[in-house]
Amino acid sequence: MRHPGPYVGMVLPRCKRGRVAAASPADYMRGMSETETSAPLLPILIYPDSTLRKAARPITPADADEVRRLVPSMFATMYKAPGIGLAANQIGSLLRVIVVDVAPKEEPHPLALINPEIIAKSSETATQEEGCLSIPDQYAEVTRPARVKVRYQDMQGARKEIEADGLLAACLQHEIDHLNGVLFVDYLSALKRNMLLRKLAKAMREQQAR
Ligand code: NI
Repeated sequence: MRHPGPYVGMVLPRCKRGRVAAASPADYMRGMSETETSAPLLPILIYPDSTLRKAARPITPADADEVRRLVPSMFATMYKAPGIGLAANQIGSLLRVIVVDVAPKEEPHPLALINPEIIAKSSETATQEEGCLSIPDQYAEVTRPARVKVRYQDMQGARKEIEADGLLAACLQHEIDHLNGVLFVDYLSALKRNMLLRKLAKAMREQQAR
């Protein structure tokens, strides 16, 4: 069972949870410290919170302290949910930072991306089931480019690039969308989107009534 509280980020589809291999980029931040994983949890904004529809702003060196404070809490919040990705909008910050980890629980591959930007995408597409911690317990198939190349800065401010396919490619696109105020339901037909959002509204009403 999931915690009934509000959550953010991309949720690993139930059918795939626990058996997804990451693309194994060399720059994953392996072995997070106890301090990082025990950082304070942040409340996750739920659709239709207006912050989810706002564009986040680029991070500058002046934001360094705020980013260092925020990122460990974003990881802790994402793992607790549990989710495989979280964007700053979802915890009410409009800074361009996302955290992702699509690896199985036993071997964490946390990756924090500052100012991430998709610089190349494949014409070939892939369809995967997606969920979002800001749209709890609702899943739908989304078609996106199968492979992407993302440019970003790491926590030390170094410029990096990552090439991803599979679930990591979908997750990076889903989280970067969040920084632009875009949600996975925006890719669905109006009919499917309305059905999903009605189910969400009903579930939220029932939860509040309990
Ligand atoms: Ni999401």
